[in-house]
Amino acid sequence: RLLIIDFGSQVTQLIARRLRELNVFCEIHPYNLLTDEILRGLNPQAVILSGGPDSVTRPGSPRAPQAVFELGVPVFGICYGQQVMMEQLGGKVEAGHHAEYGRAFIAPAEGHKGDGIFAGLFQTGREEVWMSHGDRVTALAPGFQVIGTSQGAPFAMIADEGRRFYAVQFHPEVHHTPGGRQMLENFVRLAGFTGDWTMAGYRDEAIRKIREQVGDRRVICGLSGGVDSSVAAVLIHEAIGDQLTCVFVDHGLLRLNEAEEVVTMFRDTYNIPLIHADESELFLGALEGVSDPEVKRKTIGRLFIDVFQRYANGIEGAEFLAQGTLYPDVIESVSFSGGPSVTIKSHHNVGGLPEKMGLKLVEPLRELFKDEVRALGRELGLPEKFIGRHPFPGPGLAIRCPGEITRDKLEILRKADAVFIDQIRKHGLYDEIWQAFVAILPVRTVGVMGDGRTYDYACALRAVTSVDGMTADYYPFTHDFLGETATRIINEVKGINRCTYDITSKPPGTIEWE
Ligand code: XMP
Repeated sequence: RLLIIDFGSQVTQLIARRLRELNVFCEIHPYNLLTDEILRGLNPQAVILSGGPDSVTRPGSPRAPQAVFELGVPVFGICYGQQVMMEQLGGKVEAGHHAEYGRAFIAPAEGHKGDGIFAGLFQTGREEVWMSHGDRVTALAPGFQVIGTSQGAPFAMIADEGRRFYAVQFHPEVHHTPGGRQMLENFVRLAGFTGDWTMAGYRDEAIRKIREQVGDRRVICGLSGGVDSSVAAVLIHEAIGDQLTCVFVDHGLLRLNEAEEVVTMFRDTYNIPLIHADESELFLGALEGVSDPEVKRKTIGRLFIDVFQRYANGIEGAEFLAQGTLYPDVIESVSFSGGPSVTIKSHHNVGGLPEKMGLKLVEPLRELFKDEVRALGRELGLPEKFIGRHPFPGPGLAIRCPGEITRDKLEILRKADAVFIDQIRKHGLYDEIWQAFVAILPVRTVGVMGDGRTYDYACALRAVTSVDGMTADYYPFTHDFLGETATRIINEVKGINRCTYDITSKPPGTIEWE
């Protein structure tokens, strides 16, 4: 494997992304959790040292385990990683004065042969790169030579071909460094990676590991109907068959026909033992009279854990809990700011549950990014419609029903939501949209239908584009689409007589209404 040592750069994950695109398997490890011994134990075939916000000239600043340079494997230092490398191998780094941010151009050093990771560069005489540094290398460590220089960084590209050590002052992993991919590809090739890491391979390997970990014991999996837990469940079932039992907690806050679809798909199509924990009475009862968004979330989160635990306790001999944890959740980020962050919404999570129940974890997706989970889902034959589903929040429709939640309102909301999604699918827009749903508003408004007066609920349509849910913009539907959808909802859904479109971006809004 290829090991990335993380010094806290904002773009460390991008290095991993680029390597995965080259079909090379890699792992990110924070520098502060590595020692010489751990590093040797990981037995990497190559190491990349990431960028980071600190200054190597500051006493006590992060270092790589010295063993990195004694393993005899190729090492590639990026930005802070370059400076750490120089510092630890006997070069010199100085602070300040020559900060470079953004676009820069690298000219080849005299006599540069374009070897190693720099092979194939400088086709146009220079390389455009993206810089972001305050410090810079001022003296090379013994054995290194300069390959390229920029105005602010005389040692922008350096190499010790003998030891296969390479380093750059810029960021090859970002799109603004067009030759970056070539450098990373050269690096993995010279480290002996053939680019044979595929999803089919991952699936076989994951199945082998699950069998090895679980043996003949039993596993419980909490199924939410979302992509991650579904892919995890199907994968584990392939590995250990009926030693797996899924528990699907139905809190009565799901979309139209959702519970039936999940139960049918897993129980009938995949033959996976599934407990449908229909606890809607319990949840809706507890939510009666509750209109504060945080109290709603906390109530649902607490009950969810109680219910899950109760059903899980009934599964005899279960020793493992399966979770659809993804790689971005696993990477322990190196935080330098350390300041407390404000809780905007308390996301519902089942962290802490495994210890409480004395269960060990099975997390077969721990090494994957979201789009890789989808690829694995396809590999496992999950239907495309299911794999491409929009995200759905843990507290479900509760947070799309501002004010008090009643069964009536939920019923109306479900129908309106189904019409909206149907419209989006019919117009071929589903995959362009990150998330779309209806919120039912806690107001009634006056209308006229036929010859009669109506006094019914208003609803808001919400559809956003986003990459990760952290920021979002409203989707620019045409007026025709909006008009047609409003007409359909008002005609087809009894209880709604007014339709609005939410055009708030995030920030300042959030995607959900609560
Ligand atoms: P917001 O509303 O915070 O939502 O802009 C960002 C994304 O997160 C989803 N979301 C949740 N997901 N539990 C979840 O599993 C929650 O409590 C929760 N709250 C919001 C939301 O649907 C959107 O995709």
